[in-house]
Amino acid sequence: MAIRRPPRLIVIFLVLIAGVQFATADDPVPATWPHQFHALLFMNYSGDLSMINLWYDWTNGRNFNIIQEQLGGITYDLEWNNGTSFVYTLDESKSCRSAQLEVGPSLYARLFSRAENT
Ligand SMILES: *[C@@H]1O[C@H](CO)[C@@H](O)[C@H](O)[C@H]1NC(C)=O
Ligand SMILES: *[C@@H]1O[C@H](CO)[C@@H](O)[C@H](O)[C@H]1NC(C)=O
Repeated sequence: MAIRRPPRLIVIFLVLIAGVQFATADDPVPATWPHQFHALLFMNYSGDLSMINLWYDWTNGRNFNIIQEQLGGITYDLEWNNGTSFVYTLDESKSCRSAQLEVGPSLYARLFSRAENT
């Protein structure tokens, strides 16, 4: 079955119209994103509560999450800017795993090529 896609000119026109409508002098100016900060997050995953100490450190290319489950253990999640994450515990189980997440130019290249192909 052929999927009908909207002509590009109409899409571009709609984007331009929307841009004109929403860009007013009263728009709030976002604050500059700090290169380093500490945040305390309280999460609720469908009733599973946790407290996360997030240490964001763009300068050194990393983001460190220390995840304390309510009535549970502590998980350390160290995420590097190259997409590699190390998730580990320091309790008696001493578990450790790594993951490779797609980030930066390769992710944008893939998303862009996917958008072009639809
Ligand atoms: C967490 O979310 C659940 C729904 O998934 C809700 O019933 C519960 O009250 C929430 N707990 C807190 C502390 O907000
Ligand atoms: C990403 O950087 C971390 C920290 O330097 C390193 O341990 C890891 O091996 C790197 N991952 C890749 C895919 O190069």
